[in-house]
Amino acid sequence: MPSYLVDTAQRKYRAIIERGILARTGEHLPAAGGKVFVITTRDVWQFHSSRLAAGLAGRSHEILFFPGGEENKRLACLEALAEEMVQRGGDRSSLVIAFGGGIVDDVAGFLAAIFMRGVPVLQIPTTLLAQVDAAIGGKTGVNLACGKNLVGAFHQPVAVLIDPEVLATLPEREYRAGLFEVVKCGIIRSPSLFSMLAEKRAAVLAREPEIVERVISECVRIKAEVVSADERESSIRVILNLGHTVGHALEAETGYSRFLHGEAVSFGMRAVTYLAERTGHLSAEDSVEILNLLDLYGPIPPLDGVSAGTLAARTVMDKKTLKGQVRWVLPVRIGEVQVVPGIDDAVVRSAIEEALG
Ligand SMILES: NC(=O)c1ccc[n+]([C@@H]2O[C@H](COP(=O)([O-])OP(=O)(O)OC[C@H]3O[C@@H](n4cnc5c(N)ncnc54)[C@H](O)[C@@H]3O)[C@@H](O)[C@H]2O)c1
Repeated sequence: MPSYLVDTAQRKYRAIIERGILARTGEHLPAAGGKVFVITTRDVWQFHSSRLAAGLAGRSHEILFFPGGEENKRLACLEALAEEMVQRGGDRSSLVIAFGGGIVDDVAGFLAAIFMRGVPVLQIPTTLLAQVDAAIGGKTGVNLACGKNLVGAFHQPVAVLIDPEVLATLPEREYRAGLFEVVKCGIIRSPSLFSMLAEKRAAVLAREPEIVERVISECVRIKAEVVSADERESSIRVILNLGHTVGHALEAETGYSRFLHGEAVSFGMRAVTYLAERTGHLSAEDSVEILNLLDLYGPIPPLDGVSAGTLAARTVMDKKTLKGQVRWVLPVRIGEVQVVPGIDDAVVRSAIEEALG
């Protein structure tokens, strides 16, 4: 089974893709160390507790439940989890296991980053989106009312254990939302992944094990490579944000409740595809190919009532904005993107309008 090295200044670790690895979690925990705190949601625990419990046999551990949802990805929930950790015996020798989707990965990762000024975290992602993206690379954080992930820390895990078997219980909509992050990987860096997604749609949607593992593997390879080259997003890592500036604006504008993260990113990728074409960065043929692939894995929920002007204004609040200028990640061909700062507001607005349809 494939495993990829993530080589950062903070830590070197492996992202391992292996069926059944959940039941072997203990082998990937540091031998020394205190109590293990598993942060999870009740749905994930209900489906997969027995295998993780087997993996933790013989290791003192506590289970802490997080309510889940973007609305709870806030500092208040983090504080409650930290209080609970102390009450249940947490100290500087503790280790956190983030066991859930991207929200749990971000919250539990941030908790580990700041608990007693930092304890190790093991990431065990359970959604497709978290397996191909969120759990790898050490970005952790929570939302503010005015924007997503605006408070956080870089905290690299000791390892990322990716068990494709857990995806069997993932609801269809969540699986499809994760596939949009996979499409993103194809657009930014992998023409072969892009073609595979276009040609093998039925197998991908049917979650055929062999194809799912190939898809996850290619995305993890890309993420590991990009993060190893630029841990702190001072250069190339920004390409992983293709579609995220407009996607985050859409999520914030609709109260984090109407669109799943991957769906919002899908809309964001549609908008930047139009933007890239309008600004002469992308050919009409490649633009059609990208839009077709997004359609192939769509649709996303209706966009009624969403205004292009408001979304365009919100993009300026994004973390990727520097000195008031948005750094746009634009596709320039299938498998390659370019960072383009300072595109005229009117052009951005009209590309978003076109994406709204
Ligand atoms: N840190 C990063 O680099 C990074 C990258 C991308 C996205 N993110 C973040 O990830 C979050 C989105 O993550 P997500 O899409 O995984 O959503 P999520 O964490 O909300 O999970 C989706 C739902 O599926 C449930 N679930 C998880 N695994 C399951 C399983 N195996 N079976 C059944 N149900 C399961 C969850 O409890 C939840 O209800 C966003 O907050 C986004 O900002 C972070």
